[in-house]
Amino acid sequence: MKEQALEGKRRILSDAEAWAKEKLSRDSSGHDWWHIERVVRTARTIASVEQADLFVCELAALLHDMADEKLNEDPAAAQRELEAWLYGSGASEAEVRHVLEIIATMSFKGGARPPMRTLEGKVVQDADRLDAIGAVGISRVFAFSGAKGRPIHDPSVQVRLTMTEAEYRSGNDTAINHFYEKLLMLKDLMNTEYGRRLAQGRHEFMETYLQQFYEEWKGER
Ligand code: ADP
Ligand code: NI
Repeated sequence: MKEQALEGKRRILSDAEAWAKEKLSRDSSGHDWWHIERVVRTARTIASVEQADLFVCELAALLHDMADEKLNEDPAAAQRELEAWLYGSGASEAEVRHVLEIIATMSFKGGARPPMRTLEGKVVQDADRLDAIGAVGISRVFAFSGAKGRPIHDPSVQVRLTMTEAEYRSGNDTAINHFYEKLLMLKDLMNTEYGRRLAQGRHEFMETYLQQFYEEWKGER
């Protein structure tokens, strides 16, 4: 019986993986399949240390971008598709509700973002945020900026920590500015103890990177 339940969960996860892979394999906005795979792996790592429900964490990580407005012309239709998929997946109703709640809270837009209610939500949000910092995070910033045709750096662009979401999405922003708008703040937003530890290492790597960047920029190194 226990074996059967485990086997069922494995099958749901591999179905979710196949669906996400198919849908995201053609994306170039930084929400590609490899982002999902990294978030899943990091979520697994944090979940085992924090003793969270691995199945819920992994399923939410796999599906967390499926209804994202950046990936869907019609996010409401994508949300309905996500719900239908989950309810037909074989996961229990409690698991489906939990996964949907995690995804909805993660992608909440606007000022006062609600905090994650459950440990599993905290784990998956930490894993997603961790993918925006460190060596991988640095790569994603430049990939995103390049795709938008924005410059790497402009010393005359004032670093602003208080840009609105709209300014921040459309602005005459540089890749380097994005570190100050967002990336350097993420380590203080971690939910879990282990997530915070991982974030600390990645944060220090970004600070080292920026320091070297400015020295090279000035011809001093
Ligand atoms: P999410 O939906 O995961 O919160 P975003 O769409 O904000 O992520 O960002 C996806 C990736 O693109 C992240 O790695 C992020 O750092 C990068 N990115 C987002 N906005 C900018 C920007 N204005 N300049 C450079 N990179 C950005
Ligand atoms: Ni993500």
